Amino acid sequence: MRIILFTGKGGVGKTTTAAATALKCAQKGLKTLVVSTDPAHSLSDALNIELQPEPTVISENLWGQEFDVYYSMKKNWDNMRHLMLSIFKWKGVSNVVAEELSVLPGMEEASAFLWIEKYYREKFYDVLIIDSAPTGETLTLLTLPQVMQSWLTKAFPGQKLVIKTLGKVLNKTKGIPLDKGYDELQNLFSKLEQVQKVMLNPKVCSIRIVANPERMVIQEAKRAFTYLNLYGYNVDAIVVNRILPEIVGAKGSLFEQYVKSQTDYIKDIEESFQPLPVYKVLHQGAEVFGLDLLDQIGTAIYGTNNPHEIFHAENPFKVKEFSQYYKISIYLPFIKDNEFKLDKFGDELIIEVNGRKKSVLLPRFANFLQLDGHAFENAWLHIRLNKN
Ligand SMILES: Nc1ncnc2c1ncn2[C@@H]1O[C@H](COP(=O)(O)OP(=O)(O)O)[C@@H](O)[C@H]1O
Ligand SMILES: [Mg+2]
Repeated sequence: MRIILFTGKGGVGKTTTAAATALKCAQKGLKTLVVSTDPAHSLSDALNIELQPEPTVISENLWGQEFDVYYSMKKNWDNMRHLMLSIFKWKGVSNVVAEELSVLPGMEEASAFLWIEKYYREKFYDVLIIDSAPTGETLTLLTLPQVMQSWLTKAFPGQKLVIKTLGKVLNKTKGIPLDKGYDELQNLFSKLEQVQKVMLNPKVCSIRIVANPERMVIQEAKRAFTYLNLYGYNVDAIVVNRILPEIVGAKGSLFEQYVKSQTDYIKDIEESFQPLPVYKVLHQGAEVFGLDLLDQIGTAIYGTNNPHEIFHAENPFKVKEFSQYYKISIYLPFIKDNEFKLDKFGDELIIEVNGRKKSVLLPRFANFLQLDGHAFENAWLHIRLNKN
């Protein structure tokens, strides 16, 4: 099975491109399911069909589903929910609040992971397309086992024993199978780790970043790219969506300036994400709803390529930790020779080539580290960041 996940800033066109990609996969004869993990569901709108928390048939080979954390919790982890509820009530939290608390941070993502695990295990679908929430939440999703572990340790210090014994005690008084809740929790963790492994496998999972030719959006796309690389996920393409046609920016027109800067932004995107392919989609002049328009978007993105292909598979950003320093290696094929200046401001690395400045966003921890030397060989820039 192939898993393709779309991420990017809110409103850039993730849902649209995810749905268009799914449609193209289905047209190739692949059984395709497109799912939305974003609680602000708009996949139904894009497909122009009312989706459910279980897969709905959309057209030949194409299914759609909008995850719903409440539905998923009830279906999959009722025992665990009871365990949580009982713990909260026992701690004096009122009923209503406890109900809400049982949907804890990360639960949304966790339930998405469980669905992914199910589909991966069952092998019914050939392709799973994930229309995810804006970048921040996607990163939470992709680092979920680590995130969950940390909140669990905070919520239940000395957790394991406490939950297990507490579970048994409450079990006797209330007749709810709470020790099963604990087992579910354990089971959940091991499943989350398995799914994460699958998602980290570049042969299975590709992540595609959607952006618009606008400054803030590109900034967020670069940041996401850095983090995804850092965590080891394979980003295999960039989609630049809603590009205004040149003609709209004719001299003296309202959009002249916008179209001009758009050209620079697209160039920046192409350089910054090299060697990844950058697919461009024009603004369609109207909102994109329904299969016909999605088909046009799909053709604009993929042309004659197979939408489920792995478009790229080498990590252009690597971090290695040593006792005294970090070595960060960045692939920068747009630098042709060694004539560049390097500077670091906070977590931003500024590379000046021929008077033009490029910024590369480093992981946030780089804020506290000192740039201490660099080397450039075969299009790879290696920098050394000292820990003290
Ligand atoms: N190429 C395009 N041309 C015109 N409108 C678009 C295009 N791509 C997306 N849209 C519209 O932009 C809005 C946001 O797109 P959407 O896919 O929901 O973004 P996201 O999922 O990233 O929040 C929607 O109304 C959609 O119809
Ligand atoms: Mg969306």
